Formats: sequence, structure tokens, C-alpha cells
Amino acid sequence: MRIPGDKSISHRVVMLGAIANGTSVISGFLEAEDTRATVRAVRALGITIESDGAGGLSIHGRGRDGLCGPAAPLDLGNSGTGLRLLAGLLSGQPFDSTLLGDRSLSRRPMRRIAEPLRRMGAAVETAPEGTAPVAISGGRALVGIEHRLEVPSAQVKSCLLLAGLHARGRTSVAEAAPTRDHTERMLTGFGYAVERSPGMAAVTGGGELAARDVSVPGDLSSAAFFLAGACIAPRGRVRITGVGLNPTRDGVLRILERMGASVVLSNRRDSGGEPVADLEVAATRLRGVEIDGDLVALGIDEIPVLLLAAARADGTTVVRGAGELRVKETDRLAAMEEGLRRLGVQVETRPDGMIVHGSAAPLRAARVDSRGDHRIAMTFALAGLGADGPVEIEDCDNVATSFPGFASAVRALGLEIEESR
Ligand code: S3P
Repeated sequence: MRIPGDKSISHRVVMLGAIANGTSVISGFLEAEDTRATVRAVRALGITIESDGAGGLSIHGRGRDGLCGPAAPLDLGNSGTGLRLLAGLLSGQPFDSTLLGDRSLSRRPMRRIAEPLRRMGAAVETAPEGTAPVAISGGRALVGIEHRLEVPSAQVKSCLLLAGLHARGRTSVAEAAPTRDHTERMLTGFGYAVERSPGMAAVTGGGELAARDVSVPGDLSSAAFFLAGACIAPRGRVRITGVGLNPTRDGVLRILERMGASVVLSNRRDSGGEPVADLEVAATRLRGVEIDGDLVALGIDEIPVLLLAAARADGTTVVRGAGELRVKETDRLAAMEEGLRRLGVQVETRPDGMIVHGSAAPLRAARVDSRGDHRIAMTFALAGLGADGPVEIEDCDNVATSFPGFASAVRALGLEIEESR
């Protein structure tokens, strides 16, 4: 199978294409609600983006200072990446802007970007709870800062690096555990110098970006459902072509291998500074493992489906240092705890993780609530592979935020799935 385009890279290519000089032609762009929200927001900032509706975009960049003030608040829907990265890009602009989102996004923490942006000299206000809407008053002169991330977050890092493009001097972000480095790689690809050393990335403001063509690889986070699914399905086997394998994202592969799966990589290549390969995995008896913070940061979005794999493994899996999962699209630890229990799995939760007591016994047919979170819904869809009857999942519309066509992809692989309204 092929998998839709990488969500993180798709957001970034629209933003960097917008402030580059010239036209960037993109293929493999993720056509999903989150990334379309970013396209709409960037269009509202005066950028012409032509789309063929099938992953092809032409972004007519207007240079570093070419954005125009939006006529209305920018609505990023469900997308934390869209909102946090744009907040960085807009903090050093001459115009005012307001960023908002849906109910889930309006509950997520924004002080983690507002505070360092203020230290750079930006005028950024959040709602009193430290959440969206995020209101930015333009016309402030930003200065570079040194910032150390308190919690590992690629969104915060990227927000500050993007603000740094419009700041006087150098903006550096230090991180204790590596988080995805797509922004650093893509800035370099667009010809912008990024200073990098282990645990640190920095930019100096005032440079220019040159338009370029980008082929977006398949999203490893979407592939992860099928990789884990193949491991737990009786006679499961899947081959996925053209998947992005950035080493700051590949925690899911490292964890599945530790659990005893053998993921075979072939046709390795580079696509615009991002490593890409075809992946193949087959059903295996998995074993329980310990997963700590550093590995969690490398596979943060894949922990839910790995918890499902752990439920079908021999022995106990312990996940620690995963407290950030509580502030994703929903509290993913709570959603997984509740859903796995309904499927008959023994779990214990901790503030920053979970203990799953795996078993070869089939999961129990049950009804679970995705809490409107796309990755929770897709995880429990795959639970159907290891259950003794149907798994019903409530509140699944948000699958379209990252993976429209998920149900057909699952069906094509032989899993029965029905959608109802
Ligand atoms: C993302 C970073 C991650 C991830 C999210 C996408 C990004 O969040 O969960 O889905 O594109 O930068 P963090 O900010 O927690 O790293």
C-alpha cells in the first residue's frame, strides 16, 4: 500500500513556501483537514496557492516580508502544529492576527509558545487559561533569544525558529531529548542557514528563502497503524512504499523491533533532505518492553497504537515519560486506558504513562469512545484484528484530520469496517 503524505512536512512546506522567493511546486501534499486549514490560513495571508486536490500544490511565495494582514481570525481547526507554527511566523509581522481552533485545540496549552515569544519582544495574548485564541499584535521588533524546551516539543521548537527568521540576531532552541527536525531540514532545503549541534538548533534573522520543489514522503505516523496491525493480525503482512523515515520520528520502528517484530526496509532513498524507504512487516509474537521518555519523544504520536500492540504481546509493557500525551487532541493516556479496559485488557495508568499486561487471548468485542481523536479512533479500528467480535468506535469524524480514506485503506487490506453516521 501507499500511505498519505506526511502531516508535519505538509504544514511546513506551505509555510516556508509562502515566505520563499518564487514558486514552489509540491507533490505528495497531505490532503486532509489539518493541512488544508494551514493552506486556508496562508491564503488568507495573501499567498496564492494552486491545488490539484490530489497532493499537488504550486505555492507562489512572496518573500520573507511578503505576507499581508488577514481580514479575519485564522481558524486552524484541530491542528496544534498549524496554530503553533503560524504563531511563530506571525509574531514578527507588521500586522495583527488572531489564531483559533476547534474545541479540542482551544483546550491545548499555548503558554509554552506565548512566553518565549514574549521574551523575543512579541505581543502575544492567550485566553486566561493559557489557551487559544492566540492574539498577536504586529509591528514589534523581535530579538533573538536562547530557549531551553521544558517539555520535548517540535511544535514549540519550530514556532521559535520561525519567529527567529524575523528577529534581530540569533534564536537558539535547546532540547534535552531530540524531537522531529523537519523544520530545520526544510529551512536548510529552502536555502536558509540553520546552525545545528546535538540537542540544539539556531537561526539568525534577516535571511531569505529560495523557492524549491518538494516531494512529501508518506507519513510514518499513518503507516504505524498498519505496521502494528500486521504484527497482531493472524497471518498479517503489509508492505508500505515511500514512507518518511526521519531518524527523529522512527521510535515506532525501534519499539516494534524491541518487541520482536522484524521491519524490513528496502529501496532507501533521499527525498528533499528527508530519508524515505519501503517497509515490510509480518505477524510475529510480540513481547512486552519498557519504553522511556527519549524513545517516547521519537514516537510520540504512535504510542496509542503501540499500547494496542502491547495488549496482544507476551508480558508487560511499561511506558514512562509520556505525560505530553495528556495534552494532545485529547488526553490520549486516558482514552487508551478506558478503551483497552473495555476490550478486556489489564492496564494501570500513571500520570506520565501506562502499564499494559499483555496476553495472547483475543481482545473482547466492545464499544469504545475515540473522544474525537483521530489517532485513538484508528488505533481501535486496528484492534478489530485481534478481537473475538466487532469493535465499535464512537466519534470518528476526526480521522479526516490526518487520514481521509482510512476506512477504504483498511478494507483494501481485508479488515471488515463499516462507517455509520
Ligand atoms: C508535530 C510535533 C509533535 C506531534 C504532532 C506534530 C509537528 O508534537 O505530536 O502531531 O509537526 O511538529 P510535539 O510538539 O509534542 O513534539
